[in-house]
Order: sequence, then C-alpha cells, then structure tokens
Amino acid sequence: MSDASTAAVRPGPGNAAQPQVRRPRTAAVIPAAGRGVRLGPGAPKALRALNGTPMLVHAVRAMAASRAVSLVVVVAPPDGAAEVKTLLTDHALPERTDVLVVSGGATRQESVRLGLDALPPGIDIVLVHDAARPLVPVDTVDGVIEAVRDGAPAVVPALPVTDTVKEVAPAGPAAPAGSAAPGTPEPVVATPDRARLRAVQTPQGFDRATLLRAHEAAVVGDGATDDAGLVERLGEPVVLVPGHEEAFKVTRPLDLVLAEAVLARRRANDGF
Ligand code: C5P
Repeated sequence: MSDASTAAVRPGPGNAAQPQVRRPRTAAVIPAAGRGVRLGPGAPKALRALNGTPMLVHAVRAMAASRAVSLVVVVAPPDGAAEVKTLLTDHALPERTDVLVVSGGATRQESVRLGLDALPPGIDIVLVHDAARPLVPVDTVDGVIEAVRDGAPAVVPALPVTDTVKEVAPAGPAAPAGSAAPGTPEPVVATPDRARLRAVQTPQGFDRATLLRAHEAAVVGDGATDDAGLVERLGEPVVLVPGHEEAFKVTRPLDLVLAEAVLARRRANDGF
C-alpha cells in the first residue's frame, strides 16, 4: 500500500481470513488539502485547532465513530502529508479503524480523486467527507451508509434552507456567479422556490463503482463543488437523507466560534 505519497498511519489487518458472508465494507475519504483562505491567514484550515484539537482530527474521529467505517483516507495538503501523518499518530483514534494519508491536488475534485485512487480492493461503499465539517454526528454518518446499503448509488445529507436564496447574473462571460467585487450591486435574475431547496452536507455516500465512474467522466476544473453533482451528471439517481445542524461547514471566523460552542455543549452534556 505504501509509496512516496501514501502513508499508512496504522497497519491494516494484513492477511486476516475473509469471513464467509462478507458485509459491504465502507471507507471514508476526507479531502483536507484546502488552504481555507476565507478563514483568514494561518495554517491550512484542516490543521486549525478547535478546543485544542486540529479540525482534521475531529473529522477523522467523526468518521471512525461509525462502526461501519473500517478505513479513513485523509487527503493532505501536497506539502503537508508528513505533518498530517504525525498529527494523526499523536491523537487517539479507535483501534478498529485503519488510517491512510495521501497527498492532495489543486482542487477539491482532484484531491478526492487522489483519495479514491488509494482505496484498497474490498471496499464497496465510499463516504466523502469534508475535513471542514468536523462535528457531524455519528447518527448522520450511519444514516448515509444505511441508505447506500439499501441500494441508493448516491446519498447526500441535507437540510431545508432557512434563508431565501437569490440567483444573480454572472459577473462576466468567464466569471462564475458571485465573483463580483465585494459591495458591487448585483442584478437578481431569479428567486427559486425556497420550499424546494436543500443545503447539502457531507459525508456523501456512494456505491464505490458509481463514484469512480463519476470521477472518470468528470472534466477537471468544471466547477463541481460536490461529488454527488458528478453522479448527477452521469444521469444516476441521487437521494437526500436528513442532515444535521452540527454538520455545518467551518468556513468563516464566526464558524470557529460556533464549532467551539458545540464542543463545549457536548462536553457539558455527556463528557465527550
Ligand atoms: O473550499 P471548501 O471549503 O469547499 O473545501 C471543502 C473541502 O475540500 C475542505 O475539507 C478542503 O480541505 C478540501 N479541499 C481539498 N483540496 C483542495 C481544495 C479543497 O482537499 N485543493
């Protein structure tokens, strides 16, 4: 398994005998190679601390909390794989979960693809989980896995949106919507019916073969912001299951405050 860019943090089960009736095996890929510029200057986002523990460690623990997840593949910043490996060795993780670290790419899509390339044979279900969602509860993770086991090729946790959402005109022929200079008034082109909108979260869960096909068919740099979007482009069905408010993405400085408040509440409630 190990090469220059793939590092096993803990050895796998080796040549253990295969059980007679094999349950589907699940792995989680955690893209954690982003810089997180919206959070302000500092270390890569995944390495920022929440209550003294790096966000990435929280995210790995959130995946490993599911008894169904036997392997976690962490996709590290291209120049930070050694640092991430040390970090994960230094923090306690459940014994039953294997952890691999690979180097990421220039975009999230590329990083996920590099994580998928590191999956060993025998994995049937793949979760893709943003390191930037460190606090997703285990019930949400298990709900996604269960829906894939029940036959859905792509499953996404989601919540209804609370804000009304406006669609704006693209800023220029080549510019993505929302890229206008801050403060510039933007023309509104549509107001989608809020009742039919959902805000999607991770982990997104997939039948492994479907996700691989989606990534193989994807064009690098086509702007896909989630993996389920790539599956939709294949014409395969994608279903939503209930997400959780604690699965929010840590993007801006205020999100760090909220994340630390959630951790403090958990500690007060159950000593987590
Ligand atoms: O930028 P955004 O918040 O959408 O990133 C979502 C996730 O994708 C983060 O966990 C980030 O670390 C990861 N990412 C990555 N490789 C990149 C860019 C983002 O793994 N090149």
